[in-house]
Formats: sequence, structure tokens, C-alpha cells
Amino acid sequence: MGKMSKRSEPSTEEFISNSSEETRAWGKKLAQRLGDWACILLVGNLGAGKTTLVKGIAEELGIDPNAVTSPTFVLIREHYGRIRLIHADAYRAASTKEFIEVGLAEYLEQPGIVVIEWGEKLAELVPAHAIWIRIEILDGTRRRISLSRDGRA
Ligand SMILES: Nc1ncnc2c1ncn2[C@@H]1O[C@H](COP(=O)(O)OP(=O)(O)OP(=O)(O)O)[C@@H](O)[C@H]1O
Ligand SMILES: [Mg+2]
Repeated sequence: MGKMSKRSEPSTEEFISNSSEETRAWGKKLAQRLGDWACILLVGNLGAGKTTLVKGIAEELGIDPNAVTSPTFVLIREHYGRIRLIHADAYRAASTKEFIEVGLAEYLEQPGIVVIEWGEKLAELVPAHAIWIRIEILDGTRRRISLSRDGRA
């Protein structure tokens, strides 16, 4: 049984971005194949390009990318395009409780794309099918973007 299961194999993809424009374009392409209901956890250091990637996702969903900024102080921002985009940032999160209080669980139960910067801090709140994306700073403007669908980044 397990042998034939299409979802049993871990799936990872890697992309080397040479500029913020390429990261943004990669985010746009990712959004094209997401469907209308997904959760993405973004992992990467300060300035890695997490918000830049979210701007690309927003663009594809018909949302003004300039409206997308790190929502550090409000925890979660809602954007309405063709598909709803929920943009969360867990950088300053002291506990997962504050994200429950602002309704993260409810957002995840409804169609829309939920993207969480510093997502590893909220791993226990998100569904098992969440997509993990790690952005590593290689040098200058080069980044390694790794996407994993098996629960790790
Ligand atoms: N290849 C690249 N991809 C993304 N951003 C890049 C790249 N090269 C340079 N940059 C620059 O790095 C910065 C990334 O900023 P961004 O706000 O997206 O990072 P972040 O990961 O969201 O940081 P934070 O943790 O502070 O929220 C921008 O100034 C961007 O122009
Ligand atoms: Mg950011």
C-alpha cells in the first residue's frame, strides 16, 4: 500500500536567485501553482528575502505588492485579491498563543493563502500539508531557495 502512495516520497525543490527581482518572480510562479488554499512557512535570516517573496505571491493574486510589508507589529495582515492572502510574521512572537488570539487557526480553516515569515516558530499551529520554504543568503544578492512539502525546511 505505502509503496504505491504518490505522497510518500519527500519532495524538495531548489532555486538559486541572483536578485530580489528573481526571488519575487519565483514567488509569483509559486503562487500560480498553489491553488486557492495553502499554508507556507518561510524560514530564513533577517534580510534573506522572505517579504520579497511574499510580494511576488501577492502580485500573482492581484494584490498590490507595495501593500506587502513585514507585519511585525500587527502579527497578521489580510490582503484581498483574487484569492485572500494572510501574511503573518512570527519574528517577535513570544508564544504561539498570541497568533491563536489574532485568529490564525480560523484563517487556516478557510480558503486563502497563509504565508508566515519565521514560520518555524509557529510550526505546531499549522497543518501537516504546509509548504516549507527556506531562503539562505549565499553571498551578495545570491540566495538559495528550497521548497519542501514533507514538513521540514
Ligand atoms: N536574491 C535576493 N532575493 C531577495 N532579496 C534580495 C536578494 N538580493 C538582495 N536582496 C535584498 O535583501 C533584502 C531582503 O529584504 P526582505 O524584507 O525581503 O527580507 P526578509 O527576509 O523579509 O527580512 P525580515 O526577517 O527582516 O523580515 C531587500 O533589501 C532586497 O532588495
Ligand atoms: Mg520580512
